[in-house]
Amino acid sequence: MSLILAIESSCDETSVAILDDRKVLSNIIANQDIHQHYGGVVPELASREHQKNIVPVIQEAIRKAAISKSEIEAIAFTRGPGLMGALLVGVSFAKSFAQALNIPMIEVNHMQAHILAHFIEIKKDQTYPSFPFLALTVSGGHTQIVRVDDYLDMTILGSTLDDAAGEAFDKAGQLLGLAYPAGPKIDELAKKGDPEKFEFPYPRVQGLNFSYSGLKTAILYFLQKEVKRDANFIKDNINDLCASIQHAIVRILIGKLKRASEETGIKTVTIGGGVSANSYLAKKLREMGTKKRWEVFIPPLEFTTDNAAMIGVTAYYKYLNKDFVGMDVKPDPRLKVGS
Ligand code: KG4
Ligand code: ZN
Repeated sequence: MSLILAIESSCDETSVAILDDRKVLSNIIANQDIHQHYGGVVPELASREHQKNIVPVIQEAIRKAAISKSEIEAIAFTRGPGLMGALLVGVSFAKSFAQALNIPMIEVNHMQAHILAHFIEIKKDQTYPSFPFLALTVSGGHTQIVRVDDYLDMTILGSTLDDAAGEAFDKAGQLLGLAYPAGPKIDELAKKGDPEKFEFPYPRVQGLNFSYSGLKTAILYFLQKEVKRDANFIKDNINDLCASIQHAIVRILIGKLKRASEETGIKTVTIGGGVSANSYLAKKLREMGTKKRWEVFIPPLEFTTDNAAMIGVTAYYKYLNKDFVGMDVKPDPRLKVGS
């Protein structure tokens, strides 16, 4: 048994979790609604909100886990990738906590954590992905296909060359007048819409890489043209627009996963990151999985968007290896998931 306290502060969620090995005793997440007014995350505001939230969130995590501080055996934190000022709050807090309790510190890569979220123990006879597997990590800042050979042995097979899939959702949402982050709202409205009503281009990108900037531009021009013709176009077609845009974003993800599976021969496929909460992505992935005989893993909703439980489970594997860091550790906004 090992009790680890984990901190996540890479972007706009302040989260603290306490894990007993791979079991989550508490996972507290403070969202920062303040960014909604700006149509995206404002780094300075994120950092200030983390400073405000961190102490109460830690206290709540300890209270909910029903443990005492002295039982904690290690402190884990997100070292990167993410926003420098936001990461700094978590890293600095981890340092003072580790020093005060005289316990080791574990640094965690946020994108590795999105992948290892599948190893959080939720129920007894749970099935976990078996190695090697493919992981599609899709969030507001990242879109990657990763080959995972072991818990901490990962290789990036493809990445986005420009915007991330979550960014495509959020930027399209902004054009439609939806509040940030628009992904969940598009998902909801799309349920009442026709995914084939409007057709958007499929980017031609080499290999397993992605590109979403062309789609964003195509949506912008399309909307400008239609709104000129009919000022109510967006309002009158919002469900179909959401469904069609979502379809355009998701088919790119599924297309590349199919190719990655064909190229590597790997048939265990997982998704992670905020966009993996998308119900249409889950549906399309399951359909493709049935067709191609993949074993598909989709994380439970609470572990898809940013959370500290995934940081804690990643730290658990590093704890087993005694992979600790010293007080000189610094945040790394561009930390990579593997080779
Ligand atoms: O992983 P995450 O919480 O933070 C980052 O590391 O970026 O991902 C946030 C992203 C946002 O772009 C948000 O719009 C998107 O995940 N997202 C969704 C859904 N829920 C969150 N996108 C599509 N459908 C959803 N249901
Ligand atoms: Zn994330």
